Amino acid sequence: MSRTVLVTGAAGFVGSAVVRKLSTQGDRVIAVDGLLGGLYPPDEKIQRFDAISSLPGVEAHRLDLRHDDLSVLPDDIDYVINEAAMPGLGLSWSDFELYSSCNLSSVARLMDQAKRWPLTKFVQISTSSVYGKNAVGDENMPTLPVSPYGVTKLAAENLAFAYMRDSDVPVTVLRYFSVYGPGQRPDMAYRKFISRALAGETIDIYGTGEQSRSNTFIDDCVAGTVSALDSARVGEVYNIAGSTERSLNEALAVISDLVGRPLDVRRHETARGDQDRTFGDTTKASQELGFVNSTSLEEGLEAQVLWQRDGGL
Ligand SMILES: NC(=O)c1ccc[n+]([C@@H]2O[C@H](COP(=O)([O-])OP(=O)(O)OC[C@H]3O[C@@H](n4cnc5c(N)ncnc54)[C@H](O)[C@@H]3O)[C@@H](O)[C@H]2O)c1
Repeated sequence: MSRTVLVTGAAGFVGSAVVRKLSTQGDRVIAVDGLLGGLYPPDEKIQRFDAISSLPGVEAHRLDLRHDDLSVLPDDIDYVINEAAMPGLGLSWSDFELYSSCNLSSVARLMDQAKRWPLTKFVQISTSSVYGKNAVGDENMPTLPVSPYGVTKLAAENLAFAYMRDSDVPVTVLRYFSVYGPGQRPDMAYRKFISRALAGETIDIYGTGEQSRSNTFIDDCVAGTVSALDSARVGEVYNIAGSTERSLNEALAVISDLVGRPLDVRRHETARGDQDRTFGDTTKASQELGFVNSTSLEEGLEAQVLWQRDGGL
């Protein structure tokens, strides 16, 4: 029997890929997005929203979780994947209201609806930014966010767990570590580096370039997210991260090889709230969700370069 999955942030980079995967599997998908501007222009979201709207089993709703009437959503939702959020670090310093309303108040409004759904699982999507400057280790690392974005996402985790304790909403949290690959947001580092590299333009780097990431390839991230619907334990947190820790400078060298030219790099001061190192231990997700971070940085960046060379979308 097919199940009904509500995916919020369904026109976003990760959310749209989750919707496509669920649709392919034969699930019924209620796809919600407010098509917000702010971090990046909504054009790409509008195109993705149109594209997912015509997929088999998908019912798309343009709704802003901050203030639109959510009682229009169906009563028979079995699962929620709450991808909707305002991501990105920089803007969270200058427009905190946008982040607190989209990342926190929206979760409360969604949770109030959750009480009327026969939910098996509510998957709250979170981020390595909740750990802070150094996100190297497993889910027991201390949570010491260094950006307003990280603070709102940590608060959202706590809020979701409060609804679990108070109202038995079956909450699980997934903490993503920098996701990349075809479809990546235009404000994210690799997307910008590749655009500039392909155009032969100067690439701006903030910090020494020795800051590291365990980037997660989009297909691996989506597979882990979808398997959490059945396999994740309620009340638990799981890291979803790439398999290796690679510096920004190493990623630039890979991009240079892929585009076949040396890169012109201009260095700037470290960006406010940036993380030094991220290397998520994914043992728990591997054991319990069957999560596999199978894509190397070279393979993942090759797929992203091809996608951007083709004009994206
Ligand atoms: N991309 C990454 O590297 C990364 C890393 C860690 C965590 N995350 C988390 O993953 C999720 C998806 O991120 P993404 O990279 O796809 O971002 P994205 O900006 O591409 O997608 C988020 C979507 O949520 C929608 N949205 C935001 N506020 C909304 C509201 N109030 N009502 C309705 N829709 C709203 C936006 O319009 C957007 O389409 C977010 O929760 C983010 O915090 C992403």
